Amino acid sequence: MSKLKIEGKNVLSGTIEISGAKNSAVALLPASLLCKTKSKIFKVPKIRDIEYLIKILEVLNCKCKIENNAVEIDTTHLKNAPIPEELSEQMRASYYFMGTLLARFKKVEISFPGGCHIGARPIDLHIKGFESLGAKVEIIKNKYIITADKLIGGRIYLDIASVGATINIMLAAVSAEGKTIIENAAREPEIVNVASYLISMGAKITGAGTSTIIIEQSLDLDNGVTEVFPDRIEASTYIVLGALMGENLKIKGFIKEHINAVLTKLNDVGQDFELNGDEITITRAKKYLPTNIKTQVYPGFPTDMQQVFTVLLTRASGESTVTETIYESRFKSAELLNQMGANTAACENVLTIKGPTELTGKSLWVPDLRGGAALLVAGLISEGTTILDNIPLLLRGYEDVVEKLKAVGAKIEIIE
Ligand code: UD1
Repeated sequence: MSKLKIEGKNVLSGTIEISGAKNSAVALLPASLLCKTKSKIFKVPKIRDIEYLIKILEVLNCKCKIENNAVEIDTTHLKNAPIPEELSEQMRASYYFMGTLLARFKKVEISFPGGCHIGARPIDLHIKGFESLGAKVEIIKNKYIITADKLIGGRIYLDIASVGATINIMLAAVSAEGKTIIENAAREPEIVNVASYLISMGAKITGAGTSTIIIEQSLDLDNGVTEVFPDRIEASTYIVLGALMGENLKIKGFIKEHINAVLTKLNDVGQDFELNGDEITITRAKKYLPTNIKTQVYPGFPTDMQQVFTVLLTRASGESTVTETIYESRFKSAELLNQMGANTAACENVLTIKGPTELTGKSLWVPDLRGGAALLVAGLISEGTTILDNIPLLLRGYEDVVEKLKAVGAKIEIIE
């Protein structure tokens, strides 16, 4: 299996352009099923999850045309079919086909979704939401079978402001009779991206991006068009890398409001940067201050960034903490950072980082997507060579990561 070889300590300068967001794109492609004929999505990142989603769309008899980063989906001959395990288990987002197939056919047969092992990750809120709309959900072996005679809108309160459940319920609710109101909805930009795509098809949705979303029944949706929002986690990852190794490193093409929580923490550690529209210029600080981070739902500090930010905290003079409130198993990469020379200790959901420590390259196994990004950043600041194994997990989330980093001066290559 191929591995990633990283020679550390190279200063990075130049410009990194941000791609479309994985977590938006993986919802937008399944959302296309709601269109009667054709839809088009621009700025779709070329990553493995998208390849698998396209395979699922083909199982459902859709025709997909990919040109650069634009994907055109023709659903004219859409047919319902069970979504096989070898496709659904490749990623978590395969669960969005539940919402869209339920809306289109009132019947879904799908094997359990996959995804990174970062905690229990149940989908009970999705299921409860579908049941509230009138669906019957059965689990037979490793499959969900969801059926409904008809879907009827109502008021759905989410116990947890879950991104996936909010989007999935919104997708199903467009075909539910009357009005559906999702309360305590998640407010992440991905939800706004999906809602605006559905609105472009003719759906009647208000409130996306707030904690109350109202969806009115909208049949005959068609001709959806949208652009995937810039990837706020990719942008934040490269910005943190710029804080560690940048020399006038520019990161371009993000939406500042989406990454405010991360920028605030950069201020807290004493890192300067210059913001200019959709671009940031960053040169590594001489010294970093410790800080405390608590992961929260948007617009709080994203759980998907805590592992990468931890690498920066290994360089801060003093004791920092990261409190993880979303997932229970998201400190695996910190143990690996310790093997590189970091001084971190996890106690329940709090990670303590004592610094500053110097890191040394090691051969390591990527534990999960964002943990892989943390190890990549760690490798780039380490003395010597780092070899990362199990890299498909990392490549899942970062389009052209090797090419983008090479172009700004990183010594990084895929080896067999
Ligand atoms: C999405 C992102 C993931 C990110 C996460 C939180 C995608 C494909 N993935 O995941 O990168 O880390 O948001 O920002 O977009 N929960 C339940 N029951 C449910 C659903 C969720 O208990 O039915 C819990 C989860 O276990 C977790 C929390 O709610 O503790 C948040 O999960 P959720 O927002 O749903 O995350 P995902 O949509 O899975």
